[in-house]
Amino acid sequence: MNENTAVSLDKIRSKTANVCVVGLGYVGVPLAVASAQAGFRVIGVDVEKDKVSMINKGVCYVEDAYSEKHLPELVRTGSISATESLSEGANGSDIVIVCVPTPLNDKGEPDLSFLRSVARDLSKNFSRFKLVIVESTSFPGTTTDIFQPLLERNGRKPGRDFALVYSPERIDYGNAKFGVRNIPKVVGGINAESTQLGAEFYKAILDAPVVTVGSPSVAEATKMLENIFRYVNIALVNELAVLHEILGVDFIEAINAAAT
Ligand SMILES: NC(=O)c1ccc[n+]([C@@H]2O[C@H](COP(=O)([O-])OP(=O)(O)OC[C@H]3O[C@@H](n4cnc5c(N)ncnc54)[C@H](O)[C@@H]3O)[C@@H](O)[C@H]2O)c1
Repeated sequence: MNENTAVSLDKIRSKTANVCVVGLGYVGVPLAVASAQAGFRVIGVDVEKDKVSMINKGVCYVEDAYSEKHLPELVRTGSISATESLSEGANGSDIVIVCVPTPLNDKGEPDLSFLRSVARDLSKNFSRFKLVIVESTSFPGTTTDIFQPLLERNGRKPGRDFALVYSPERIDYGNAKFGVRNIPKVVGGINAESTQLGAEFYKAILDAPVVTVGSPSVAEATKMLENIFRYVNIALVNELAVLHEILGVDFIEAINAAAT
């Protein structure tokens, strides 16, 4: 294990590592709050000026009970702040978590321009060894084949300048029982050091098991499988509802009975 990694592991365990969350949306804000609640100093980065300004005033604009409860106090005590500048956020940080959007385009493909732009900008901002974590949703291969080569620009090298991990956000938005802190976290790094660092970080901030897998692609596939499973089930139940209406059978009553 290289010397820098040992330093970072130690920094994670002692919570002296600084965390930068890039993309302060539905995923980024709860993650920033969970990291700060665990004891890390957090700086959030967003291209939207209004969001940065609201965070710095302690205003929580995402509908998340956990974030709404803790954000104001964490901002007041200086545990969380925000900036529009990626270099300001990333340069002084040991851990950078990327939560930018990957919306589907007309062809149903994720628009990776936000991820690409962050990777390119990050490659200019390595004043020290960093653990970079990608949480944005995309297809298997995105982290290693698209994000990593852009991160390696400007002569950056994995192992020497960065560790790299993919860890999907599995939040079931609006689910009161399962939130950012109690959903098991899947972590897959580009090498053993990356996976170890990523797992250590999530163990430090979550009250949930951390599941390590052999590569970022497996972690990306995990997220795809979960989404496909959910969508297939929603589509199936929609079709069955139509069928039961034709049959004149109370579908909800049948579902409740089947669930016993
Ligand atoms: N919302 C969910 O329930 C959910 C669940 C699982 C996974 N995801 C995935 O997580 C990712 C983020 O989703 P979200 O719902 O938080 O999106 P969001 O749109 O709520 O937030 C993303 C934020 O990133 C900011 N941003 C865009 N480009 C940026 C850049 N270059 N630098 C800094 N900030 C930038 C945007 O201004 C925005 O505030 C997506 O890939 C999404 O598919 C979302």
